[in-house]
Amino acid sequence: MNIDAPAMPFNFIDLEPAISRDTLVFHFLRHQRVCFDRMVALVRGTELEPLDLIELIRVTERNPAQHTLYRYAAEVYNHNLYWNSMSPRGGGAATGLIGEQLRERFGSHERFVREFTDAASAHFGSGWLWLVWRAGALEILTTSNAGTPLVRGDVPLLALDLWEHAYYLDHQNRRSAYVNAFLEELVNWETANRALAELGAGSEARTGRARASVPVARAGIGMP
Ligand SMILES: [Fe+2]
Repeated sequence: MNIDAPAMPFNFIDLEPAISRDTLVFHFLRHQRVCFDRMVALVRGTELEPLDLIELIRVTERNPAQHTLYRYAAEVYNHNLYWNSMSPRGGGAATGLIGEQLRERFGSHERFVREFTDAASAHFGSGWLWLVWRAGALEILTTSNAGTPLVRGDVPLLALDLWEHAYYLDHQNRRSAYVNAFLEELVNWETANRALAELGAGSEARTGRARASVPVARAGIGMP
């Protein structure tokens, strides 16, 4: 296997009070880890075994007969980026290149916050909220269930889990409170800055010449 077991870049207790230890323990061990184990069981001994995680996602997404495996692999990737989209020292307005790009695309931090939270509220059921790089600009989008923008050619910069298991113990059904806590206390802009830097640093990103690629997409899931 060319896919590492999931790891978190912080301790279970480090995101309190925004996200509790119990939420992270269950989320990491009972959700992502289960997806990883089931993915490994389906891959081991097959021709898919040499693939890395992103290659596995792209290959299995194209084959409806392999969509069970695709969903497990996508959930491993999505959660890897989610963990790295948060930091105990995160939250607040973006800085660096991502700050410049957010102001260019949305005009202000407040406008970005409004569009990000509105997208989360408008998404029905389980899924994911994303900030992605698409054709030279930032976009906010959601995917349902295990869906990942990787298969559309987008470069995911940040991911926020919208499944209720991500927030129900702490915020019950108040998804907007969870999204606000993410933006105000947790969001790790450095993950987005690293991905943008790999897209071609400031100049190409600013002029919109950068394009998605597999190596760039990997930047968004940097394992701790
Ligand atoms: Fe999750």
